[in-house]
Order: sequence, then C-alpha cells, then structure tokens
Amino acid sequence: MDSDFAAYLHARRADIDAALRAALPAAPECPAVLAEAMQYSVTAGGKRLRPILCLASAEAVGGTQAAAMPAACAIELIHTYSLIHDDLPAMDNDTMRRGRPTLHVVAGEGFAILAGDGLLTEAFALLAGAPESGDAAASARMLRVIGVIAHAAGPFGMVGGQALDLAAGGATTDRPAPMSAAALRTMHAKKTGALIRASAAAGAIMGGAHDGAIGAIETAAAEFGLAFQIIDDVLDVEGAPATLGKTAGKDAKAGKPTYPAVYGVLAARRMAAECLGRAERALQSVHLAKSRLMDIGRWIVDRSH
Ligand code: IPE
Ligand code: IPE
Ligand code: MG
Ligand code: MG
Ligand code: MG
Repeated sequence: MDSDFAAYLHARRADIDAALRAALPAAPECPAVLAEAMQYSVTAGGKRLRPILCLASAEAVGGTQAAAMPAACAIELIHTYSLIHDDLPAMDNDTMRRGRPTLHVVAGEGFAILAGDGLLTEAFALLAGAPESGDAAASARMLRVIGVIAHAAGPFGMVGGQALDLAAGGATTDRPAPMSAAALRTMHAKKTGALIRASAAAGAIMGGAHDGAIGAIETAAAEFGLAFQIIDDVLDVEGAPATLGKTAGKDAKAGKPTYPAVYGVLAARRMAAECLGRAERALQSVHLAKSRLMDIGRWIVDRSH
C-alpha cells in the first residue's frame, strides 16, 4: 500500500470514529449496561472498510463526505451487530474479535444479543434523523438509501447469507460441508457481499450519482465483496490470531464451506484477484477506475487482517 493511500485511510478512519462516537447511544436515556456493551464492540477498532468505501464512493462521483457520513456510520453499526451475533455460541462460537474477548464473553449472551439488536435499530434511526436541511432531493436520496441498506442487511442479504452459512452446518466435522460452486458464491455474496455493495451504493446515491454510475459502482463493489470473503477465508487458514484480532483456523475445524476448503488457498487467492479485474472493468465503463475505489479493492485483496 502506498503512503498516500495509507494516509487517506488514516484520515477517513479518524472522521468515521468521531462520527460513530457521536452517534452511539449514551446513558441515561439508554441503560448504561446496554450503552457500554454497544460501545465496547464499536470502539474496539475494526478496519472501517465499509464506511470508508461509502465515503470513497460519494467522493468518486463528486459528492461530499458530510452527505455520505450518516450512511457510512449506519452501515458500520449494522456490520458490528452482525459480528456480535456471528460470534455467539449459537453461531460461530468465537471468543475473540477485534483484538478483544467477544462481547458475549465479557457481558453475557443476553447483553450481546441486545447490543446487536440496539445497533441494528439505531442504524436506521440515524438514517431517518439525518437530513435536517429541508432539501427534498436529499431526503429522497436518503429514503432510497434506507431501502438499499435494509435490503442488504436483511433476509435477502446478510441475514439470509448467515442463514445459508448456518444451514450448511458441518459444525462437528473436520470435513467441509458439501456445497456447489454456485451455492458457495451465493452464500458469500449474501453474507458479506451485500453489505459491502450497499456501502458503495449508498455513498454513490448520497453523492448524487446518476443511475449508470450507481449501477457500475454496485457491480464493482459486489466483486469487492466476494473478494473480501474469499480473503477472509484464506486468512482464517494462513493468518495468526495476533494479526487478525480474531481466532484463526476455525473454519476448517467447524467444517465450513469456504473457498480455500473447496479450491485450495492458491486458487482462492487467484479467484479474489480475478474479482478485481471484473471490478476495474465495471468502473472503467463510467470512467471511475482511477478513483479511490480501486485502491480499496486492492487493499481488500492484499490485506493481512
Ligand atoms: C469480518 O469483517 C466479517 C466478515 C464479513 C468477513 P471485517 O474483516 O471487515 O471486520 P472488522 O470490521 O475489520 O473488524
Ligand atoms: C461472517 O463471516 C460474515 C458476517 C456476516 C458477520 P465469518 O464468520 O467468516 O466472519 P469472521 O471470520 O467470524 O469475522
Ligand atoms: Mg460466520
Ligand atoms: Mg465468524
Ligand atoms: Mg471468517
């Protein structure tokens, strides 16, 4: 990663972290025990990939960061909720996340479930409360974004993908559950791709892009999303917990169908790289291949955590 892009990520992360802190519910209106649980997971860090992609997408189409920030924050709150619930004993049963013990380990399952519920709901409250300008066009864009994010987070998107992951089971075997190439791709597109795609779409919409650009950005971001989960699966095989901030080697132990399990690590990495090629072609079609979006795509594939 070049130093210019590293500085870009650093600056965007600082802005996003400040906006997230301002958006998080606090006591006494929110019960302190719940506010602390939500804060614990959101402020633990995380790459902030999705909100950065949202801001970069707005910027690429000539929009402002301010217009895209509520959507960026809402998506990070939803993403954090998805991690809290993903780690629960009834799901992946993980004890480490973002370099800390998982929320259910420190606060108990009940509060982890409720913190997730709170983050998901608050994300939509944040979006609904965002446009105070009286600008009808901005309000219409926000309404469209609320639909895009809800669709991506729910049963057609992330929650649906997590259901496919859970149904694939295999939790007690060392062999991956059998899954066709198409089904594996669909599961990844839903559980991870949908929210990454929505991040980019939301930024483009709030940035005032025309439908052609929004469509191309969505196509590219869907490729980023697939690449992201392929690399997540590869890092589960190759990564070290200290770098990842989460447990490694869990997918194989749980018999999860993953790209490295089905194709091997080398082919999985090649397939992630191929996603970038398709993303670049989509962005070229609307003259956006030179924007920050492709830097983000390369970061997704080259990352070590
Ligand atoms: C992890 O997401 C869960 C997946 C969808 C694979 P990230 O790797 O973006 O997690 P954080 O936000 O950086 O902790
Ligand atoms: C999780 O996929 C996707 C989500 C929707 C949270 P994983 O289960 O592979 O994510 P990690 O490896 O626990 O972060
Ligand atoms: Mg999982
Ligand atoms: Mg998991
Ligand atoms: Mg994983």
